[in-house]
Amino acid sequence: MKIGILTSGGDAPGLNAVIRAAVLKGTRVHGHEFVGFIGGYKGLCEPNIMPLTRHEVKGISQKGGTILGTSRTNPFEFGGVDRVNQVLAEHNIDAIIAIGGEGSLAAAKELSDNGVPIVGVPKTVDNDLNGTDFTFGFDTAISIATEAMDRLRTTGDSHSRCMVAEVMGRHVGWIALHSGMAAGAHAILIPERKTTMDEIVRWVQSASDRGRAPLVVVAEGFSLDTMDDAHSERGLDAFGRPRLGGIGELLAPMIEEATGIETRATTLGHIQRGGTPSAFDRVLATRFGMSVINMVNDHQWGHMVALRGTEIVRVDFIDALGDLKTVPADRYEAAAMLFG
Ligand code: F6P
Repeated sequence: MKIGILTSGGDAPGLNAVIRAAVLKGTRVHGHEFVGFIGGYKGLCEPNIMPLTRHEVKGISQKGGTILGTSRTNPFEFGGVDRVNQVLAEHNIDAIIAIGGEGSLAAAKELSDNGVPIVGVPKTVDNDLNGTDFTFGFDTAISIATEAMDRLRTTGDSHSRCMVAEVMGRHVGWIALHSGMAAGAHAILIPERKTTMDEIVRWVQSASDRGRAPLVVVAEGFSLDTMDDAHSERGLDAFGRPRLGGIGELLAPMIEEATGIETRATTLGHIQRGGTPSAFDRVLATRFGMSVINMVNDHQWGHMVALRGTEIVRVDFIDALGDLKTVPADRYEAAAMLFG
């Protein structure tokens, strides 16, 4: 078979490990041939194709980013099913492996519903995909965020300041919850749990009263009880989703005014997505890359690989998309016992 691989949406540490594993297993064990579509769905619809042999994937699993490049391109704005089928026929490609998050896999589902031979590999630092316990990229992101928070705490301590750290995560609070717990944050604010300013001030004041420099971790998708939606002032992405960010800068002066404690905000931003993947993410990505080849061999289009417990399983796109995997209330309340 000739198989085309693409990486789509925001990058996540571990993408290269998936590509390497799929190509190595596919070529060595099954004799498949591989090509890469450069720049996500754009490289598929406006063919920009590179060979993917053993040579191209040599030593890449420890590298961040993606050797194929990525974009937030919606294939349905570039000719959709007809265009994709035409490109596959012209280049004698039998199957597509799409490595992507919620938006990219929703596009893969629509393509597969219309007969395109496509399978998925879930990726996102946000860990918001249903159907898989973890996505690769998340472990690296929380490690980077935790390390940054450890640093914020030392400078916060020196100046007796309240430090607000804003993390990614889109509409779920997994990155905030895990990095905030790891860093011993005095408050963690997530989209799943609306919070009042009074509550935040109570946590900050209580930490400060005990002589601590308060650390508040806020997910970019968080909104106060007085806000209708998450803070967004940068429009929509190609899949029609609001581009989030800036809530930390909004909260810092409010906390300072309410408590009298000097407060600074830091937005960790894309640092959370860059650099070397953690060992956990490399292993998960490698297992996904090897397993997705079995799915292609079985022509199980419209499915993605997933992690359930410690096993790699196959999940229908239908069961993975639609609802986001949000932080359960009991997970948050358990963490909140230690706030303040
Ligand atoms: O989905 C991953 C993610 O990093 C989100 O956490 C964040 O909101 C978004 O992508 C940022 O997108 P971009 O890289 O397009 O600015």
